[in-house]
Amino acid sequence: MKIFHNKSELSYLTDKLKSKDSRIGFVPTMGALHKGHLSLVEIGLRENNVVVVSIFVNPTQFDNKEDLKKYPRTLEADVALLETISADKIIVYAPSVEDIYGDNVQSQSFKFDGLEREMEGAFREGHFDGVGTIVKRLFEIIKPDSAYFGKKDFQQLQIIKKLVALYRIPVEVIGCSIYREDDGLAMSSRNARLTEKQREVAPFIYKTLKSAKTKFGTKSAKKVTEWVEEQFSKQPLLELEYFSIADTKTLKPVKRKSTKKTYRAFIAVYAGDIRLIDNIALN
Ligand code: PAJ
Repeated sequence: MKIFHNKSELSYLTDKLKSKDSRIGFVPTMGALHKGHLSLVEIGLRENNVVVVSIFVNPTQFDNKEDLKKYPRTLEADVALLETISADKIIVYAPSVEDIYGDNVQSQSFKFDGLEREMEGAFREGHFDGVGTIVKRLFEIIKPDSAYFGKKDFQQLQIIKKLVALYRIPVEVIGCSIYREDDGLAMSSRNARLTEKQREVAPFIYKTLKSAKTKFGTKSAKKVTEWVEEQFSKQPLLELEYFSIADTKTLKPVKRKSTKKTYRAFIAVYAGDIRLIDNIALN
């Protein structure tokens, strides 16, 4: 497998591939790869000649220094996992912070029509400036034809679609299904940090989302939200940060249900100091 640590060398290769009419898919990640990530790579491999997978724990998108420090870094295992699906069609880009940021580890400031102010944007200051900065830079380096993002981070997906439209970046942004453990817990690199007890209760998050979806059929968003808050107040190992039923397009909380709109429920929960997010389509 080809592994690059240097952006100029990678750009040289992707430019060459493009000149030969190769279609390039791109899956940006922060590593500690799991089946959720691999599902994106597999879709990319079906639709492109090669897939670039970036593995980079992007410091500018972390509002919490401890979370950044503790974020798992497992490059060797990540490469081995990618090799199990293809050794010759995947290119890994694992840059240093310096290769991406030089000596200016700062994010650009973005406005994404208000999408950046909701949910994750409200609770993680500067998060989407960091995400926008790194993804835009990676798009410039790799120049992919299509890029694959998980609906696990649904708000991020919508923001990247907005980024591409605002800056007229010629890349197709493709949203992919959430990959779950058998017990429903959405796969996440952070799951590896859960204690046995926390891991045991964590499927409660998705179970509650599914019940919320059923309840939303007959009840108001306010009533469903109150019900969810009550469920979490009875769950000592999980602390609810937010639950929001929001319009899929604007991500603003629903005030009055309309049959013409689609909604999703979004949730962020702490298990100890580990922050887990999930979401579900409601209609
Ligand atoms: P990371 O959390 O590593 O996720 C990389 C990609 O994998 C994202 O598009 C995310 O939505 C997707 N993903 C993670 N878990 C998933 C699951 N269980 N099912 C389906 N897709 C899943 O998201 C980031 O990194 C970063 O913000 C990044 C975009 C790389 C910018 O730094």
